[in-house]
Amino acid sequence: MRLFTAGPVACFPWVLNEMGRQMFSHRSPEYQEIHMETVNLLKWFLNTNEYVILTPSSGTGLMEASIRNGVGRGASVLVTIVGAFGKRYGEVVENNGRKALKLVFKLGDPVDPDLLDKFIGEHPEIEAVTVTHNETSTGVINDLYSISRVVGKYGIMLFVDAVSSMGAAEIDLSRLRIDFIFSSSQKAFGVPPGLAFAAFSKRFLERSQEVRERGWYFDIPLYVEYLEKKSSTPSTPPIPQVLGLRATLKKIREVGKDNWFKMYRTRAEKIRRIVRDLGLRLVAREGFESPTITAVYTPEGIRGDDIYYGLRERGIEVAKGYGPLKDNTFRIGHMGYITDEDIDALERELGNLLERLR
Ligand SMILES: Cc1ncc(COP(=O)(O)O)c(C=O)c1O
Repeated sequence: MRLFTAGPVACFPWVLNEMGRQMFSHRSPEYQEIHMETVNLLKWFLNTNEYVILTPSSGTGLMEASIRNGVGRGASVLVTIVGAFGKRYGEVVENNGRKALKLVFKLGDPVDPDLLDKFIGEHPEIEAVTVTHNETSTGVINDLYSISRVVGKYGIMLFVDAVSSMGAAEIDLSRLRIDFIFSSSQKAFGVPPGLAFAAFSKRFLERSQEVRERGWYFDIPLYVEYLEKKSSTPSTPPIPQVLGLRATLKKIREVGKDNWFKMYRTRAEKIRRIVRDLGLRLVAREGFESPTITAVYTPEGIRGDDIYYGLRERGIEVAKGYGPLKDNTFRIGHMGYITDEDIDALERELGNLLERLR
């Protein structure tokens, strides 16, 4: 099956080669070296001198960690929502006893920095803002740089879900004012699921030291202590995934960040051209199209499932529409290991399928 999924995605060959190794203890010097090398490569990749941790979880674990560690019980958090994953951030805020103020945008639109500015200005109680960098349900990428400038003006914290952007879109933390940003292994780094990672500021760590009842599994100060004293994690890490992530980061270092991002950009442009040439319309507003996933409206009278199952029969797996867009969209993921032949097959088979369905 050729995978154009939203994650897990097809893994890069260098990842699979590394992951078949015999196991060793996460307290051994061998592991400690691998752990620190991976952390340092991520710091290089994100251009930060602050903190980076790896956690045995998927990305949502770190979404919860940002709230449980970053703000106290009852605190007000502004949740920006441009789709299903922003909505999830709001649920995480509320389920952890914090107050979610919600700024919701139309599906297909990004966060409007001017409206964000106005909203924060009118609500001085806000302690932190959450943003979904790349909304996987709509295929919209937000402009982190303008959002970070707005939030930074107010001196409050910014937490970013970069689950489906990190690894494909440039995130230069030295030019951004972000307190906590997280992602997971099964997306643009082309690694199997099970590993998440976050970068956070000294300010976030200091704030977390004051927050009570942070829990144990995602206790950020404990993570920092283990990183500094044991070069490892408090609980057992998914060692094969760490090896896989290290392999992709080494590959990015070898080819250069610019060439790596260009690979993702070029691939996304090609997919969008194919979709438009077939007369289909994107969900994302022009100028905010995601480099990792393209959400596409189905033509009149054709359901998202018709496309999903029709393509599966032809050896191609895309992603179904998500949330309120479930019935009238489908999504083409373009993360991980995808060859030119895969893209040619997608173009051919999607064209054939649409012709039959129309
Ligand atoms: C933008 C975004 N946020 C959060 C998640 C949840 O991540 P995970 O499945 O790694 O917990 C996803 C998964 O698709 C996502 O795309």
